[in-house]
Amino acid sequence: MSSFIELSNVSKSYDSPGGGDAVEVFSGINLQVDEGQAAAIVGPSGSGKSTLLNVIGTLDQPSGGEIQVDGLELNALSHKEAAAFRNQTVGFIFQSHHLLPQCTILENVMVPALAGHSKISGDALRQRAEELLEEVGLSDRMHHRPAEISGGESQRVAVARALVNDPKLLLADEPTGALDKANSDKLVELLVSLNDKRNLTLLAVTHSAEVASRMGMTYRLDDGGLVQD
Ligand SMILES: Nc1ncnc2c1ncn2[C@@H]1O[C@H](COP(=O)(O)OP(=O)(O)O)[C@@H](O)[C@H]1O
Ligand SMILES: [Mg+2]
Repeated sequence: MSSFIELSNVSKSYDSPGGGDAVEVFSGINLQVDEGQAAAIVGPSGSGKSTLLNVIGTLDQPSGGEIQVDGLELNALSHKEAAAFRNQTVGFIFQSHHLLPQCTILENVMVPALAGHSKISGDALRQRAEELLEEVGLSDRMHHRPAEISGGESQRVAVARALVNDPKLLLADEPTGALDKANSDKLVELLVSLNDKRNLTLLAVTHSAEVASRMGMTYRLDDGGLVQD
């Protein structure tokens, strides 16, 4: 039986703009993450952590190897299928929350469900967005705009937004990177509880040993290879 996430012999290199040797970011990456697991990826800056997360989320393409997520062979997906996969199966959280400044908090949470792949719309969508905001502790800020809430609160809105299409996988790239200690603790608490309650598979890139220690498993990316910590 295959794992929920399976990488075999995955590599990534970028062509050099000047036409010189390609820059190899990583190669020979093997990784297996079971459904409902929480795993951290750590490693020095520039080691390819974001690139690795992006190829798993089909935001970028590997140069070689195979990736399966939820039984789907990612290499075989058409552009349209990959877009549906990103929208329906994956929730993304980045270091910066990327909330739309002109929309309310509630509208921001609904955005991923407006992309056309979603099974939920209208009143049901609004209700779901309200419930998610309650879950992340922000029901009282629903009608505010992003400029009117704090960085920690914005990142919790980003978590609610990532969950609106009920994904199976949460990919978080340095989700606490821009937060102070108290807000970082609160966000990690939230991610861990979601992983627990919803059987949501969580893959989080982090610089923080403390954040990594809250995940069930830690992998280190260094010198172009991935090893279990
Ligand atoms: N689009 C790109 N073109 C060329 N090189 C890139 C591109 N994106 C990332 N890189 C290079 O790949 C390496 C890994 O980057 P990244 O995945 O962002 O690392 P990390 O997230 O671990 O800091 C870096 O050396 C970076 O310069
Ligand atoms: Mg990065």
